[in-house]
Amino acid sequence: METQNLSPDAPLVIAADVRKHFGPLEVLKGINVSVQKGEVLCIIGPSGSGKSTFLRCINQLERIDGGAIWVGGELIGYRREGDNLHELNDAQIARQRRAIGMVFQRFNLFPHLTVTENIIEGPVQVLRENPNEAKKRAHALLERVGLYDKRDVYPAHLSGGQQQRVAIARALAMQPQLLLFDEPTSALDPELVGEVLNVMRDLAQTGMTMIVVTHELGFAREVSHRTAFMDQGQLVEVGDSRSVLANPQQARTREFISAVHK
Ligand SMILES: Nc1ncnc2c1ncn2[C@@H]1O[C@H](COP(=O)(O)OP(=O)(O)OP(=O)(O)O)[C@@H](O)[C@H]1O
Ligand SMILES: [Mg+2]
Repeated sequence: METQNLSPDAPLVIAADVRKHFGPLEVLKGINVSVQKGEVLCIIGPSGSGKSTFLRCINQLERIDGGAIWVGGELIGYRREGDNLHELNDAQIARQRRAIGMVFQRFNLFPHLTVTENIIEGPVQVLRENPNEAKKRAHALLERVGLYDKRDVYPAHLSGGQQQRVAIARALAMQPQLLLFDEPTSALDPELVGEVLNVMRDLAQTGMTMIVVTHELGFAREVSHRTAFMDQGQLVEVGDSRSVLANPQQARTREFISAVHK
């Protein structure tokens, strides 16, 4: 296992000069950012700026072309031997990915499984948890997201907001050290956004480390510790959420925030 000597206050996530291109298109042009354990980082920015790609690189749904990412002190996707980097094999990548939960805009629940079955699938199949234990934990997680009474229904019988809360419970069931959210409320009717943000706020308050791509500037201001503005593959500005949102230093950040507020 590739580990750095981590002191207790070392960041949980470190991205150093992360680069990614798709053919000639440079999508991430050297991203530098770190996230402390228990910290919530929001990433805002225009469409196409590279926000999803960055999350997908952290979660190894994409391979980076340059730079490095560490999660929990472990280099993501590679193993270092002396001065050489070797790509990890599929099993090693799968093991790293298990420590990271991801919640997407579209909830991606399995339609043929009940809510509880959706949640225990990973713990039972991947973590080899005892099914009864997994079910007990699933029910506790459903209590936490306010959906215990829906434990035996199929996703089609739930609202979008409820499905997204199940998706969050499913991610939590894998006991991740980091949760990534990619516009978790963008596909929801406006009246359902609040219930999902409330669950995320609760997670933040219990010390979950989260990176959240969102257009919900209110959530960013009130819940996240720091906010990063991404534009054209670069983090233009990163700082304390209240300062970045109320008093952005960069003209591009100011323009974006005032456009969103219109
Ligand atoms: N698999 C891919 N192949 C080619 N180009 C891609 C691929 N994925 C993303 N891109 C391009 O990379 C750029 C960044 O995309 P990305 O999805 O990261 O943006 P985003 O900031 O998440 O945008 P949005 O707010 O619309 O979700 C875009 O120009 C996009 O078209
Ligand atoms: Mg995106």
